[in-house]
Amino acid sequence: MSTLRNDTLLRALRREPTPYVPVWLMRQAGRYLPEYAALRARAGSFMALATTPSLATEVTLQPLERFALDAAILFSDILTVPDAMGLGLSFAEGEGPRFARTTDDERSIAALAVPDLARLRYVFDAVAQIKKALAGRVPLIGFAGSPFTLACYMIEGGGSADYAKVRKMAYARPDLLDRLVAINADAVAAYLREQITAGVDAVMLFDTWGGLLPAADYLRFSLGPMLDRLPQHVPTILFTKNGGNALPSIVESGASCVGLDWTVDLRAARKAFGDRVAFQGNLDPITLLTDVATVERAVRAVVREAGPEPGFIFNLGHGIVPATPPAHVAALVDAVHAATSA
Ligand code: CP3
Repeated sequence: MSTLRNDTLLRALRREPTPYVPVWLMRQAGRYLPEYAALRARAGSFMALATTPSLATEVTLQPLERFALDAAILFSDILTVPDAMGLGLSFAEGEGPRFARTTDDERSIAALAVPDLARLRYVFDAVAQIKKALAGRVPLIGFAGSPFTLACYMIEGGGSADYAKVRKMAYARPDLLDRLVAINADAVAAYLREQITAGVDAVMLFDTWGGLLPAADYLRFSLGPMLDRLPQHVPTILFTKNGGNALPSIVESGASCVGLDWTVDLRAARKAFGDRVAFQGNLDPITLLTDVATVERAVRAVVREAGPEPGFIFNLGHGIVPATPPAHVAALVDAVHAATSA
């Protein structure tokens, strides 16, 4: 086991004191970086990057070469898991993800099974290579999509404006949706276990669409299937976009840390639950499209709301958008460290 030279993230996840607030950003590797766009063009596609461990390693490290980030996140995608189930994933340039096959009826859902993890070997190989390349500089975060968020893309065959097919299934055929998320939950648990074996230091579950559901359905289809399946041996971060209303239940999930989007009152969340879980968030990523002075002011506002108690990790409330100027990301990272160093 290599020791980490910068373990502020892991300490904050355990709610231990840190010399400053650690910061990393969702989608810190991606299209806003010209060096990412260049490598993607050379590789030919997003999936070529993701499935070639040496390229995934290079992309993972790109933002760390530019910014004083306190964590790396594995470069991959949540949809590699349904791809391994045989759905046929592709990303067209400038468009969202597409599956060649959907799982939206009795037959396709009955045919679904937890994938052979050998089909995701490229992810575990990337984790091992990234850990080696990091050489203990910062921790590596692994991740997976939540069972429900994966189901959303599997049912629709891609992204959707309103996820109407998913919501109709929740109302008309909840039994089918139960089965789909149960399979996904088994797949995600096994997938995260293997990432941990390969060397990730913490794991994050991305529940991008759980916040679409009525409160009781959120517990049934989104949070419920994740309970008792969160890994125990490394710290866990659970992020539900638009999950503010369900915060008391999310805090009970057993996750070490709860990710918040920018609509949530961070001060109130820390006051109510800061002695139970760490929090991560929650600057609106659109702030990064303004100017350096505005970014710095917005960072200081989030830091003030978080307060001085341990157990806070600075992040955005959702992923960096492609139009973000890298110089604004640099200003954000430096402002977090400046505002929180003793
Ligand atoms: O955060 C990181 O830097 C790590 C890598 C990462 C990616 N996707 C790379 C990616 C992570 C953690 C994800 C998670 C992910 N993927 C989520 C959950 C978080 C969220 O944003 O809500 C979701 C819903 C997906 C599915 C997905 N992948 C979509 C909808 C898209 C297209 C839209 C978009 O934001 O680009 C992707 C593609 C994708 N995943 C890209 C990257 C860098 C862009 C692909 C490209 O190069 O064209």
